[in-house]
Amino acid sequence: MLPFQLTLTPESFRNHPGARSVLRRLSEIANIFSQTAEVQSLAAHNPLIYEFVDLRDGLSESMLSFGLTILQPGAVGGEYFMTKGHFHAAQQDGDEVYLGVSGQGRLLLQSRQGEHREMDLVPGAILYTPLAWAHRTVNVGRVPLVFFSIWPSATAYDYEEITRRGGFPQRVMDQNGQPVLVPNPAFQI
Ligand code: PA5
Ligand code: MN
Repeated sequence: MLPFQLTLTPESFRNHPGARSVLRRLSEIANIFSQTAEVQSLAAHNPLIYEFVDLRDGLSESMLSFGLTILQPGAVGGEYFMTKGHFHAAQQDGDEVYLGVSGQGRLLLQSRQGEHREMDLVPGAILYTPLAWAHRTVNVGRVPLVFFSIWPSATAYDYEEITRRGGFPQRVMDQNGQPVLVPNPAFQI
């Protein structure tokens, strides 16, 4: 492989040779939101919730993978748009670093034991997620939330454990235009 460079824009990532774009629309991730009736009312429109462009494919295990996520602003029944969230699979766990590029977000974290942490994901913020902490991002602003992430390419993603637990310990709800953390009653280890 030869040295290469990109810039922190969606276009730069999308146009890079070997880049892969994943689009997640509401219908595909409807079960992550608490307000199922509201999901139904938005179903016909089926909005794009986020795009994730990564350079994971074709890399050898010793290399780094990295990507750019563009998470749209909006809410479903008062719950802000968010990513599915995942653990890095146990046998190939790796740490991860997020860098906020634009917009206003929150990073929700949960450990294998069910502890939780929340951090602001804002432009210039560098957030370090250690081994074995699941992570989900939430757009709490009015413009797209864009962030960069980088992790060891051997890492595998485990989304099923998040579904099994009923999501994350906390949800981020819009209350009079302000993001408020509320406990998630469906959460269990
Ligand atoms: O590697 C990461 O943690 C991120 O790049 C995410 O994969 C990205 O934000 C999309 O979220 P998810 O994989 O939970 O759908
Ligand atoms: Mn990850």
